[in-house]
Amino acid sequence: MSEEESRTATGVLPEMKRRGEPIAMLTCYDFPTAVLQDASQVDVILVGDSVGINILGYESPQQVTMEDMLHHTRAVSRGVRNAILLADLPYRSYETDAQAVVNARQLADAGADMVKLEGAGEVAGRIGAITADGIPVVGHVGHLPQTWKGNRHVYGDRADEAARVLAGALALEAAGASAVVLECVPEQVAGVVSRALRIPTIGIGSGRRCDGQVLVAPDLLGLNDFSFRYSKRYAELGGTIRNAFARYVTDVKEKRYPAEEHRYRIRNEELRKFKALAEE
Ligand code: KIV
Repeated sequence: MSEEESRTATGVLPEMKRRGEPIAMLTCYDFPTAVLQDASQVDVILVGDSVGINILGYESPQQVTMEDMLHHTRAVSRGVRNAILLADLPYRSYETDAQAVVNARQLADAGADMVKLEGAGEVAGRIGAITADGIPVVGHVGHLPQTWKGNRHVYGDRADEAARVLAGALALEAAGASAVVLECVPEQVAGVVSRALRIPTIGIGSGRRCDGQVLVAPDLLGLNDFSFRYSKRYAELGGTIRNAFARYVTDVKEKRYPAEEHRYRIRNEELRKFKALAEE
């Protein structure tokens, strides 16, 4: 790989795997969070279709549209300087090669360095079409939120399923993917898959043997009431924010806000003139 190529989104991630450097990925949906994540040296910022449930109040990732993804990808891209920006192709936006290429191109034009799609099998074919258009692709196997039927979360805890996860990841690599997200795959299976691939695996709920990790930022920040077994809460911002809003409301009701230091003033002479004008 040339030095030039290793600096691109396609080159950086496999290069990190070769060096044994863990990849840190986080989801992000807005400009201020993108600025903070970028400054925190997050390697990959993912505008995930989890934007639907976490930000837009949807009940299912299936409700997320290309329009939603473009809007949030543009906002995030304005805040990213150094990280690789990855954006999800939403449900039903990559049903044919032609559709996948058009939509991936739109996400790239909105600022994404790479796009992610879910599944293996037929989906692997889309990867060739998108990468031929010059856009690197990340795959996603294991638990697949876009097509999840609401039964169990963990995928690959039976031998036949685990073999499907491995075969799917290998197919994605062969099709030209630059990395693969492994979601809710048992740790031992994720370890086998990670060793079998040259490209990095990025785990969510898939244990310690992946080449990188991704978390949904609102889960990490403690913004949601629920939490998943695999997720780690690094802050309890939900409580902090609720408390700040409640104190503001109390201050307004009790006339403690605004206080002296929050006011703008007009000089006395100008005030006198203004009052004369007002009387006229
Ligand atoms: O949309 C998302 O947040 C994702 C992560 C679960 C990897 O795809």
